[in-house]
Amino acid sequence: MPKITFELITLFPDFFETPLQTSLLKKALDKNLVKINTYNLRDWGVGKNKQVDDRPFGGGPGMVLKPDVLASCLRAIVSKTKDVPYVIVLDPAGTKYTQERALQLSRKDRLILICGHYEGIDERFKKIYADEEISIGDYILSGGETAALVLIDTITRLVPGFLGKEESSIRESFSKVPVDGKQTPLLDYPVYTRPEDFEERKVPKVLLSGNHKKIDLWRKNKAIEKTAKERPDLLR
Ligand SMILES: C[S@@+](CC[C@H](N)C(=O)[O-])C[C@H]1O[C@@H](n2cnc3c(N)ncnc32)[C@H](O)[C@@H]1O
Repeated sequence: MPKITFELITLFPDFFETPLQTSLLKKALDKNLVKINTYNLRDWGVGKNKQVDDRPFGGGPGMVLKPDVLASCLRAIVSKTKDVPYVIVLDPAGTKYTQERALQLSRKDRLILICGHYEGIDERFKKIYADEEISIGDYILSGGETAALVLIDTITRLVPGFLGKEESSIRESFSKVPVDGKQTPLLDYPVYTRPEDFEERKVPKVLLSGNHKKIDLWRKNKAIEKTAKERPDLLR
């Protein structure tokens, strides 16, 4: 049984084909760690043209996804199983997505991800049906599909069994580390590999010392230094 099922509501199911058949996501699907079902919203469209959107009340450019169409699609998905899914609408005005939120969502059994398009989604649908609206950053994508893929990738790699034992113990950017007695999210420390000398830049000596205590301390200090320079907001 998969540890988590993603149900994707989209107007462009083809968008997901290659990413889900590539690299680690494919491995997770093959191992049945996660399951991903895609639903073409058009199948719930109304009338002979299978209409899914309409002009905004009050005028203005673009088209808005219809709440009735989205609700029928959602109801059809929800009625398939007994468990209560968690409904996420991808929206630039939603709560900003973080690694911490990815970890919390990786503990859910079933996530429904709703991808908007054009001018967006009728406000009433979001307010009635969404458990959460999530933004992946302060910029505008042309559709929620890219954002849904970001959620699927970040959540899947946190599902137990996805990363090998060795990989899962590796600290990554945004993992919390004790700094002055407080759990603090830090950026990752810099990493190096062979050759030792590259275009007149040498690998820091401490990394060649074999002294793991010293190496750990150096890495932690570098992570703090890098975070203070690039992302001081994380240290606040
Ligand atoms: C062109 S956008 C609509 C933008 C909307 N008119 C606005 O200004 O807020 C179309 C869809 O892309 C998705 N989208 C765009 N930017 C996003 C972001 N930063 N995070 C999550 N979803 C996003 C949403 O699903 C949205 O409904």
